Formats: sequence, structure tokens, C-alpha cells
Amino acid sequence: MNEAASTAQVQLRVADPRPRFPIGWFMVCQSSELERGHLLERTWMGDQIVAFRGESGDAAVLSAFCPHLGANLARGGTVVGDAVRCPFHSLRWDGAGRCVGSEYPGDPDYSVHAVAHHVIERFGFLFAWHHPDGGDPTFDIPELDLDGWTDVTVSTIPIAAHVETIHENGVDAVHFGIVHGFPLSEPRYAAVGASFHSEFHFATPNFLREGPPEITTFFDTDTHGLGYAHSLNTAEAVGLRYRVLLLTTPTTDDTTDFTIATTVQRPTDGDLIAGVPADEVADFMHRGAAGGVHQDIPIWEGLRHVEHPRLVKGDGPIPRFRRWAAQFRPDREAS
Ligand code: FES
Ligand SMILES: [Fe+2]
Repeated sequence: MNEAASTAQVQLRVADPRPRFPIGWFMVCQSSELERGHLLERTWMGDQIVAFRGESGDAAVLSAFCPHLGANLARGGTVVGDAVRCPFHSLRWDGAGRCVGSEYPGDPDYSVHAVAHHVIERFGFLFAWHHPDGGDPTFDIPELDLDGWTDVTVSTIPIAAHVETIHENGVDAVHFGIVHGFPLSEPRYAAVGASFHSEFHFATPNFLREGPPEITTFFDTDTHGLGYAHSLNTAEAVGLRYRVLLLTTPTTDDTTDFTIATTVQRPTDGDLIAGVPADEVADFMHRGAAGGVHQDIPIWEGLRHVEHPRLVKGDGPIPRFRRWAAQFRPDREAS
């Protein structure tokens, strides 16, 4: 083996230090999937969880396994008031994980707690806070005002890739031209607390019926932790504004559920965007966003993480992104 080959192989064999299940807010389901008095089970952050919505309308997320003797609360459990009732021996658990009653004779005081996660609902999605030691949330996800926007179109793709690999893709400047066919112009980046901001623009042929043959779209993206990125995209020449929400939830040791949600701002005068009905544009933008992800997937699923990359000019701020992302590693939290 020559020296160059051996250096490359040693580099690739450095173990991946990134935890599969970082700290942060990670999507559980759409709010509309969880009606009052209902529950559902999800595989989420390496665990089975039960999400339920009590009579008050508040949503809650617990580890699915009852602390008493381990029954899965989602399998045969029921929502009673603002608690979930275990199907095995009837202990009832509220959203904070407290036992709030049972059908045992005398209803014994049961002081054990179920594992409960903080939850928030934002723009039609339920998020739960993941912290392996039960730590409290350290950042928020901002609400979006979607009044005057088309219905949000949602699709979820399970991907055999690390969640950090997926988000790192957003700052990998050169791949936009190579993989997606749209070379970026003037990319700018900033890490601010739990958010990573990026801006760039690129030109594409105009896919609408009116306007110039080529349009420039400006992308303004904020990643909030490693579970959510929001991109507000504007092509002024054709009066197009749309949002792409990228929600990433690690499920098992090997898989991340990637949910793509898109919506288009309706025009204030009529319903046409450069001659095309807003809902048709929305459908097109969703297929475009999902199509872009499908171009990335074989690369994400095939790659082996390179912990010490030898970067090339123009690669984008990959080291800066990785330093930012390290704040969500449980073992780095205090540093
Ligand atoms: S296992 Fe849930 S009440 Fe016994
Ligand atoms: Fe990509």
C-alpha cells in the first residue's frame, strides 16, 4: 500500500463520535394526527414513545413502557382525562409522568414516575424534547404565521443516515451544483446559539407560465438544533414565496425519519402566481423539494463519516457547522 492510500484509510477508520440521539426538539407527529382523547405510538430517539392528547387538549409524550411492569401504554392503553391508562393493571399517568390514579382497591399512592418528555406544538407539528438525562429545554422553536399560505403538504422518508449528516448537507456549498444542478451564489453563514443561519441564491429556468425565462430564488434558512430547519425562499421576479420545513427525527440506531413540509404564500390579488394557481405551484414546490432530497439520499446512505476531512476551497463552513452541532452532544453539553 502506498503512503497516500494508507493515510486516507486511517482517516476513514476514525470512529464516528457523533451520538445518534442528540439533545433537542425532535418531531413526533403532526398535531392533526393526535385528536383529543387519542394516543399513538412512535419509534423516536431509540425508544418507543406514546403520544396522547388529553381532554384539556394538551398533548403529552411519555416513554411507552409503563414503569410498573413494563406494558406498552400505546398498545391497549386509553386516554382518561389528561392521563393515559395502562392496559395491564390500570395505573394512569399524566403528561408529567405522575401516577394520578388506578382501579386498584384503595387506589394506592404510587410514587414512581414514568419517563415524560417536554412537548411543544409549532405550525401543526408536535415536538418532544430529547435529553438522555432528562435535562430541561435550552432553546425554543419559533412559531410560524401561516395565515395566507397554502395547506402544508407533508411527506416523510426514512433514511439510513445520521441526522447530523443530513443537516450538514445544507452548508455543503459545492454539492448544490454537483448533485442538484444549481450552483450557489454568495452563500453566507452564521451560527447563533442553537440556530445555524444560511443564505444564498441561485438561478433556475422559470417553471411558471409568466415572467422572465430565468428566475433567481433567494434562500434564507435557519436550522434550530438538529431536528428542524426552516427555509423561506423568494423569487421576486415571479412573486413566488415558499417555505420548506425539514424535520429530522432519529428513530433507531440506523435510521432518521426525514419529513419535508412545504407551503406557498397565496397572492393577495387573485390566486395565480405568474399564471399558475397557487395550489398547483404548492404541489410543484413540494415535489421539487422531495425530489432534491431523493438526489441526496443515496449519497447520505452510502457514506462513511469522515471525522477529520481534508476540505477543498469552496466546500462551505463544514468545520463551523460541526462545532455548532457539537453543542447538542450529551457529552459536550457543559463545554
Ligand atoms: S404494567 Fe402498567 S399498570 Fe402494571
Ligand atoms: Fe442536498
